[in-house]
Amino acid sequence: MVMIRRTFIAACTTAAVAMAAGSAVAAPKEVKLGYALAINSHYGAAAKAWSESVEKGTNGAFAVKQFPSSALGGERELIEGLQLGTVEAAIVSTGALSNFVGDVGIVDIPFLFRDTAHARAVLDGKFGQDLLGKFKQRGLVALAWGEQGFRHLTNNKVAVKSVADLKGLKIRVTENPVHITAFRTLGASPTPMSWPEVISALQQGTIDGQENPISVLTSSKLWEVQKHLTLTAHVYAPVVLIVSPTFWGGLNDAQKAAFTEGAKAGAVASRAFVDDVETKGVALAKSHGMQVVEKVDAAAFRTALEPAYKQYAKKFGQPALDAIANVK
Ligand code: PAF
Repeated sequence: MVMIRRTFIAACTTAAVAMAAGSAVAAPKEVKLGYALAINSHYGAAAKAWSESVEKGTNGAFAVKQFPSSALGGERELIEGLQLGTVEAAIVSTGALSNFVGDVGIVDIPFLFRDTAHARAVLDGKFGQDLLGKFKQRGLVALAWGEQGFRHLTNNKVAVKSVADLKGLKIRVTENPVHITAFRTLGASPTPMSWPEVISALQQGTIDGQENPISVLTSSKLWEVQKHLTLTAHVYAPVVLIVSPTFWGGLNDAQKAAFTEGAKAGAVASRAFVDDVETKGVALAKSHGMQVVEKVDAAAFRTALEPAYKQYAKKFGQPALDAIANVK
């Protein structure tokens, strides 16, 4: 009897030692986090905050490996990677996302948000949170809304001061039906193109311009390939911090909470980065020789966009547009 007890205790001790040794040496699980821009961008700031928060919140059970500068492909490929489970996490703009989650296109409507505070209030409120919930049906787990800022226009041909100046300009737009409709309605020639192709297309002159927020202009040094900047502020550009459903399904509740909290920290970091870069980015662009048109007549742009607004109302429904407008 004593013998049996001793054997049992010895076996338990060995198992406990082995388990302890196993957990001490267990390597952190690698999480691939992809995004389109450089590490010194608002995406890099979000990725850093997200990674650090996850690593801390899971006691080092996960190690986030960043793949900046489209290293895992353009945004479309990144989103497909999330759906397939070959990429665990990504930070992507709504530019490409509305091809996957149609309803998200509503936030890409020009002059929809009054200002940054309005956009943040909508996205952080019921409307934005419900929209994040819709990603599940499309094989994506969306955790938080981050930010790029308001999109502005750059080009190499003309100082754009009015809608008329856009006529015939070949503007690269995201692969996003709402953006394409807007620029076509304004009289430009919108050319949908994946971001990794844009800089060489601008260098080669196959397109005249592009539109992106100041955060993208500075982190991608667009002054090296663009002469004119017009502060059109035509569309607010959010980003979404997303994980793959395959990866998500393998997490326990505490780990899910750590990834969600981390994504929220990433979103806050992207907004802080944008707040900062918007105070100095235009001066930086000027110091690199860009010619800047500081203001356009937004009301004139909105009037020219009337036919597009009719299409958007049909597509997304007037009640949804009113719900956004009514957020204080
Ligand atoms: O223009 C785009 O495609 C996006 O804004 C960018 C630059 C890839 C950032 O997500």
